Amino acid sequence: MANKTLELSDLASGKKTELQLKSGTIGPDVVDIAAVNKDLGVFTFDPGFMATASTESKITYIDGDAGVLLYRGYPIEQLAENSTFLEVAYLILYGELPDAAKWEDFQKRVKSHTMVHEGIRRFLSGYHHDAHPMGMLVGTVGGLSTFYHDSLDINDPRHREISAHRLIAKMPTIAAASYKKNIGEPTVYPRNHLSYAANLLNMMFSVPCEDYEVNPVAERALDLLLILHADHEQNASTSTVRLAGSSGANPFACVAAGIASLWGPAHGGANEAVLDMLTEIGEAKNIPKYLDKAKDKDDPFRLMGFGHRVYKNFDPRATIIRQTCYEVLDEFADANDPMFELALRLEEFALKDEYFVERKLYPNVDYYSGIIYKALGIPTTMFTAMFAVARTAGWMAHWMEMMSDPTQRIGRPRQLYTGEMRREYVPIDVRKPAGTA
Ligand code: CMC
Repeated sequence: MANKTLELSDLASGKKTELQLKSGTIGPDVVDIAAVNKDLGVFTFDPGFMATASTESKITYIDGDAGVLLYRGYPIEQLAENSTFLEVAYLILYGELPDAAKWEDFQKRVKSHTMVHEGIRRFLSGYHHDAHPMGMLVGTVGGLSTFYHDSLDINDPRHREISAHRLIAKMPTIAAASYKKNIGEPTVYPRNHLSYAANLLNMMFSVPCEDYEVNPVAERALDLLLILHADHEQNASTSTVRLAGSSGANPFACVAAGIASLWGPAHGGANEAVLDMLTEIGEAKNIPKYLDKAKDKDDPFRLMGFGHRVYKNFDPRATIIRQTCYEVLDEFADANDPMFELALRLEEFALKDEYFVERKLYPNVDYYSGIIYKALGIPTTMFTAMFAVARTAGWMAHWMEMMSDPTQRIGRPRQLYTGEMRREYVPIDVRKPAGTA
């Protein structure tokens, strides 16, 4: 590989530095800025990480302009068509698709961890009946570290692996139990003969007094959504997991931090916000009014499910999911579901609107995922929890990648300080009232 460098000089002081350019396997080169502070005495400034690669990674690749998403090199379209969520979780964690023996072994290992300690069920029962499932997930997943001390040596690769299997296995159990808590039904134990998605549906919708059979269309649709949400390189929640983990925090605490970050409406919370928005818009005749609101800089309203930091052409996950929407609505709901119709109309209007075209704002994965969840009977407040179940595979893959990197060190960003200069403490009895000079 040719040695590429970039020269940077501070004209005021005359100091110079030579920055190394690093190349990945695909994607733009990155400038290694480590020497900037040592040689020039300055820091770089990039709020929101608009132009900063925070780490090196082999897990997921996105080309936002071309609408490409690869997990470990495999296109999302191929995985969506041929794989299952659990196989994708294996791929993301270990870097390769499993052979038959490894696949058998992985399924056994994950399934051996699907139950949660009975104490966790009691822990969940302490939440208020109308607690948001994401709040219950943040607390309960963080709480797992108080139950599973036996795999908490973060320097032991085997412990790290057990924690990854535990989290992937237990997330559906905890998510479903949070839902049961909300509706006042008894929690349902996992059934290990079912697939990952079917088990989650069974734990959410079966009750002890009746037989419940998982609908295969629902199982496949949910599995597809889990595949599409499994990883997305250095997004806010994954970066949160990495930053929390960089201090040596345990994986349960790191994933709890990731869940908290995912909850926000600019990130995973968007799927819930899309449905709330469509409900608020109500009818197609109101679309122009809401588009105007979205364009008005003085109005905090944004078109939820539109736009993406990385995808500036189309989100390939949204393209896959849009088709599934039709299949699911055909099976479960009125194919002319007014919510879906409204979503299609809103998309049509926005894609013709100069504001959205100019800014390359397209529907993202969360625009349609909520409609599928709704058709499957999953309540709005559980949408982001479903996302969290899927993303746990990605979070753990990134955490394991980071923890096995011998050069890993604590993440510690710097800042541009714009506060007060040094000043002297003033006793309260001589302080001037606020607002007076
Ligand atoms: N509605 C209206 N205007 C928008 C929207 C939107 N949804 N998204 C971006 N813009 C405008 C924004 O106001 C800005 O305009 P201007 O250049 O005039 O100042 C321009 O487009 C660029 O937007 P940005 O805020 O600088 O872009 P960003 O990369 O910081 O934010 C985003 C990306 C996803 C947070 C944002 O597009 C957004 O808030 N979308 C709605 C929430 C959403 O759907 N989130 C889910 C993302 S996909 C799943 C996931 O990551 O979890």
